[in-house]
Amino acid sequence: MGSLKLQSLSTEAVQTLKKDGFIRGSLSTKCQDTASLWLIEQMNLLGHCMSYCDQPPVMSIRPKPGFGRSSSGGDLRLLPHTDLAWAERPPKYIGMFCIHPGGGNEYQTISDSFKALNALPQDVLEQLRRNPIHFPAPEHVNSSGFTGAILDSERVRINSRNIRENWSDSAEVFLRELIRIEKEIKCEPGDYWFIDNTRYCHGRYELNPNTSRHLLRVYGIEPRCAT
Ligand SMILES: [Fe+2]
Repeated sequence: MGSLKLQSLSTEAVQTLKKDGFIRGSLSTKCQDTASLWLIEQMNLLGHCMSYCDQPPVMSIRPKPGFGRSSSGGDLRLLPHTDLAWAERPPKYIGMFCIHPGGGNEYQTISDSFKALNALPQDVLEQLRRNPIHFPAPEHVNSSGFTGAILDSERVRINSRNIRENWSDSAEVFLRELIRIEKEIKCEPGDYWFIDNTRYCHGRYELNPNTSRHLLRVYGIEPRCAT
């Protein structure tokens, strides 16, 4: 019987993720259980694997009946966003694994917020730092959400979903730039990628009915420094 030893992320890959906010690669397995364990191990290398809202540490990302169509369990186009913008302490890292990429144009997208911010005028940047936005929690979550600036010293925090009030002109300018610079993540079964959720925004194109697209997702936070 053959055995399978999956390599952990290299020191160089971890450094690149911490410095540049994005890495990707491929595993020699497409097995969901094996990939799930590997994702948890890598997140614990980067910090701590973290579960939010009673979700399992490894979440299956595919359309699910009963989920909002504009959520990760839905099928509609998702504009660039950071995950859990409504939480006081969103995950620092997101790890993704491709079980099946789906078909057609069903890609995840990413946008480097540093690049988008570089293109914005100074007054817009100042408004993004100063103007508080209220990010409501999803309906099924017992939380009042979070109110704060899109830009602070620790992170970019943005999600335009469900926002009817307080969405500012500067937030819209930033969002349009994030859309303009979106890049597609074209993946094959076995591919993984990690993003820094405090820097990179991600989105998704609309999914086809009965899509076979199936990704895995894990969250992680950095350990707080002892003071
Ligand atoms: Fe997301």
